[in-house]
Amino acid sequence: MIKIRVPATTANLGPGFDCLGLALKLYLNLEIEEIEEGLVIEYQGEGAEKFSVKRDTLIGKSAELVLKKIGQDKFKKGLRIKAFNQIPITRGLGSSASAIIGGIVGAAKLFNINLTNQEMLELALSLEGHMDNIVPALIGGLTLAYKTGQEGIKWTRIKTPLDLRIVLAIPEFTLNTKEMRKVLPQKVALPEAIFNLSRSALLVNALQNSDWEVLAEAMEDRLHQPYRTPFIPGIEDMFSQIKKTGLAGAALSGSGPSVVSLTKKGREEAISKIMKDAFLNAGITCRILVLEADLEGTKTVYSM
Ligand code: HSE
Repeated sequence: MIKIRVPATTANLGPGFDCLGLALKLYLNLEIEEIEEGLVIEYQGEGAEKFSVKRDTLIGKSAELVLKKIGQDKFKKGLRIKAFNQIPITRGLGSSASAIIGGIVGAAKLFNINLTNQEMLELALSLEGHMDNIVPALIGGLTLAYKTGQEGIKWTRIKTPLDLRIVLAIPEFTLNTKEMRKVLPQKVALPEAIFNLSRSALLVNALQNSDWEVLAEAMEDRLHQPYRTPFIPGIEDMFSQIKKTGLAGAALSGSGPSVVSLTKKGREEAISKIMKDAFLNAGITCRILVLEADLEGTKTVYSM
């Protein structure tokens, strides 16, 4: 039997639309073992009542992709997968990416199929993933993912300060990434592109040098947030209040509806309160989580 732990992720980090993503210490845990035949998936935790059928399919489908890659249509033996999920579903925290990566890594490890990280990421992307959360879910930490014409997906890790705290406000309602992509324009104006280019470089530099004071500006975005925030009551007010404090930078997590703030250890309580109150003032109840970055990515433990 093997145990696999896949982190949640916050993608589109600030100005890093479709390319920057950060792994979080919040996990999808899987226990996978061989059985005589069939694919049995048991699911507990976040989303178990509502979404288990879809999640099951995603984990199972991803495991089957690995077999197709080596020319088998079906498992010779069966698989039992027990999932214990801590990651809120359809809230912009990479729950689909973690299910996909979990299925792929699980099948590869259990059946001793040697796949490189790049091969696993390409498989994951072929299913439905976005590279800004697929990559950190596998690799861990803050990653910049990009594609090249010939070599496909590539990535690099960006150093983050140890005292970085990630505050998440997770509303009760859900938003679907596919729908949230449809609201985006296909073309952007040059000033908007320049705005995001400058903020992305600023963000990477700020995190590498613990330059906390510029985070409020470094986390701003003009490529996707202007089109998505109208679906999230209270968020503009939240952004402006956080910016006024100068203590944190805030952005949509993935395609929303969760909001992510990056701040320095010690400032997380003040930021949590602002986030919670801003949603409450707009009639939205939310959960607040204060997390650290996961630096390990997907981890596998073998046990008897
Ligand atoms: N980058 C994706 C998007 C979300 O904004 O549509 C990643 O899950």
